[in-house]
Amino acid sequence: MRAAVCTAYGPPDVLQLRDVERPVPGDDEVLIRVCATTAHRGDVRIRSFDVPRGQRLMARLVLGFTRPKNPILGMELAGVVEGVGRDVTLFKKGDEVFGFTGWGLGAYAEYACVREKPRRSIAKDGMLAMRPANMSLQEAAAGVATGGATALRVLRKANIKRGQKVLVYGASGSVGTYAVQLAQSFGAEVTGVCSTANVELVRSLGADHVIDYTEQDFAEGESYDVVFDAVGKLTSSRGREALKKNGVYLNVNKDSGSGGGGSPDDLAFLTDLIELGKIRAVIDRCYPLEQIVEAHRYVEQGHKKGHVVVSMA
Ligand SMILES: NC(=O)c1ccc[n+]([C@@H]2O[C@H](COP(=O)([O-])OP(=O)(O)OC[C@H]3O[C@@H](n4cnc5c(N)ncnc54)[C@H](OP(=O)(O)O)[C@@H]3O)[C@@H](O)[C@H]2O)c1
Repeated sequence: MRAAVCTAYGPPDVLQLRDVERPVPGDDEVLIRVCATTAHRGDVRIRSFDVPRGQRLMARLVLGFTRPKNPILGMELAGVVEGVGRDVTLFKKGDEVFGFTGWGLGAYAEYACVREKPRRSIAKDGMLAMRPANMSLQEAAAGVATGGATALRVLRKANIKRGQKVLVYGASGSVGTYAVQLAQSFGAEVTGVCSTANVELVRSLGADHVIDYTEQDFAEGESYDVVFDAVGKLTSSRGREALKKNGVYLNVNKDSGSGGGGSPDDLAFLTDLIELGKIRAVIDRCYPLEQIVEAHRYVEQGHKKGHVVVSMA
């Protein structure tokens, strides 16, 4: 099968298309013919070995010394079940599924295997669910199981009540676009903070108010019951400047737990909201697998709107 292989840590062109062995599903695994994956920020960070200085040795032990141990990146996917291991009961050949691959990665390929349900943890084993009825496979691959599940997990910590004022800082990224829609679905009055180019997008996601951070300081004026830094760019003290007394400050990197993901129940919850029309995936660009290098180059600039999908032929 064709796959984009990460041949070393480095710039986007370390990703090279190769013919590799098709994976064989284990007893509790599902073999998926991948239709769409993404150039996820996490894939870009692994490929470029973008790791804080103090964590580099540990990261090499976990990820691989000179290149990723799992050289086929790709942490989210949507596709069609091609075959199942003998213990699999939740999925069958022909089902259209989407999900998070976990640390095994592997979605930058024509076929990938994912456990039907996590055995150790979501981070290690990933998670799968049936494609929402009203989403294409491209849309289903676009962050529902990663940014969406992360936004849900973090926002739940604030136990948002109807009518509360929630500010989402970094409202145009993967986590941010889902956070705006989720907070809205919980009944909050939502303010999204983004740059000028993304104001209309964030408004279209249902934000009641949008602050263009290039023109206005979000901490001046209104104060909020919840401030969620969904892009991880604020210091805690800066984020708290906009909080009401007893308000809740959330940071995507500190409050999401390690390794991304969520739980299969979270995917079911998100699927319900999608099918009710309360949440949608934002797709900025779509590249064929043959242009994975260009897709990574674009995402690396740090300004994608929602998601960059990579489609198989
Ligand atoms: N995505 C996940 O599944 C996941 C899971 C766990 C943790 N995280 C963490 O969550 C953070 C966000 O990840 P992501 O995947 O959502 O990122 P992303 O999609 O790559 O974020 C890109 C967006 O961030 C906006 N942005 C960049 N700098 C900004 C700033 N200073 N202020 C406000 N907005 C800014 C960009 O718009 P402008 O450039 O126009 O402002 C762009 O739309 C990362 O730290 C990541 O490690 C992500």
